Amino acid sequence: MKRRLSSLPVFSLLTSLWVAWGIMNMASADDAVVDLSRGAQIFAANCATCHGPDGGPDPDSPLVKSMGVVPANFADALFNSREPLSDWKTVVTYGGPSLGFSDKMPAFGEALSEGDIDAVLAYVKTLGGEHNYPDGELNLFLPVRTKKAFPEDEWVWKQRYSSQEGDNSWKNTLEYEFRVGERFQGVLELTHEVEGSHSDFGHFEPGFKYVLKHDLRSGYIFTLGGNLGVPLNSGAEWELLPYLAYGKILNEHWTFQGSSRLKLSLEDSDHSSAEFAGIVHWVHTNWPRSFFPALEVVAEVPFERGVGPGRKSAVQFSALPQARIGLNKRGHVALNLGLEVPLNDRDRYDWRAYVYLIWDFADGGFFEGW
Ligand code: HEC
Repeated sequence: MKRRLSSLPVFSLLTSLWVAWGIMNMASADDAVVDLSRGAQIFAANCATCHGPDGGPDPDSPLVKSMGVVPANFADALFNSREPLSDWKTVVTYGGPSLGFSDKMPAFGEALSEGDIDAVLAYVKTLGGEHNYPDGELNLFLPVRTKKAFPEDEWVWKQRYSSQEGDNSWKNTLEYEFRVGERFQGVLELTHEVEGSHSDFGHFEPGFKYVLKHDLRSGYIFTLGGNLGVPLNSGAEWELLPYLAYGKILNEHWTFQGSSRLKLSLEDSDHSSAEFAGIVHWVHTNWPRSFFPALEVVAEVPFERGVGPGRKSAVQFSALPQARIGLNKRGHVALNLGLEVPLNDRDRYDWRAYVYLIWDFADGGFFEGW
């Protein structure tokens, strides 16, 4: 119990630092004024025939019917908010097929200047009306250990191979995430582990995520979430896993995500731990089908450290270099590959390899956009 208390101050401290950082960034927001009237004119002249004068296409119009595909509906606030401008800019400049959309969406890279395209897209972003959905620009790449702040409609199949002195174990997690309203996300997870000849389901984890604050101009998103671990075999324990997650666009090419999470065993507090993780991604291109390297660092603070030579360090650090690999043109089917090595207490494990397969189903079917 004593040790349990000792890790909580660390947790609260780091958490408050993140909150403070968020607030500081809020204060520094710059109010860039965009010329929306120019964007509106460009939209009326170039886009309205297909997308509709208010951004909502008319599915019954002869033009739309003849295309066989309904143009994007910018008047739908959820859709409008969730798509990052960078993707839209690619589509408008190079045409629909550049991101695996229909060739009915023309390329405007020759007809319009880059400034025109920025102006029209800034205007298009207003067609969703007033809303509180976090902006798709804040949807940063899913890390291996750091919790993600952005709410998703997504399937993720996570695999982890651990090696310890020749003994291997293989953990599979299937995760289904679904958005509810403007700032909520629900999640259902199922874990399964294979160790030697032994294999079993581990936990069923229902959970949620709620975006506390988001601000595109300052480039950050701050989220509270939690899962309940329901044991599926006699060796597993009931667990509560609350977390805070923070995402920040540092500049044009770099993003940062950090999270602090408690893993509370509801059966034996000595099995509990706190986990702090942070990751930096290098986003060197707007083309989704690319390789995006990242470095993640994880610090685990076990509540129970044991005694004698088996005593664990107060904080167990690991490094986790990884890469996001966009598999299809649209980038909504992707892999995240990572390798984790312990930096201290090295007898915990030799290494762990991670393979995540991610399918963001809001952006299209699994076989679309290749
Ligand atoms: C000839 C009809 C037509 C015109 C003109 C047109 N679009 Fe489109 N646009 C489409 C269609 C059709 C799609 C949907 C393609 C799909 O879903 O495969 C689309 C899709 C898009 C998307 C992709 C949205 C997503 O799903 O992420 C953007 C962004 C877009 N249009 C912007 C514009 C802008 C801005 C203009 C004017 C500069 C414009 N379009 C002009 C037909 C058109």
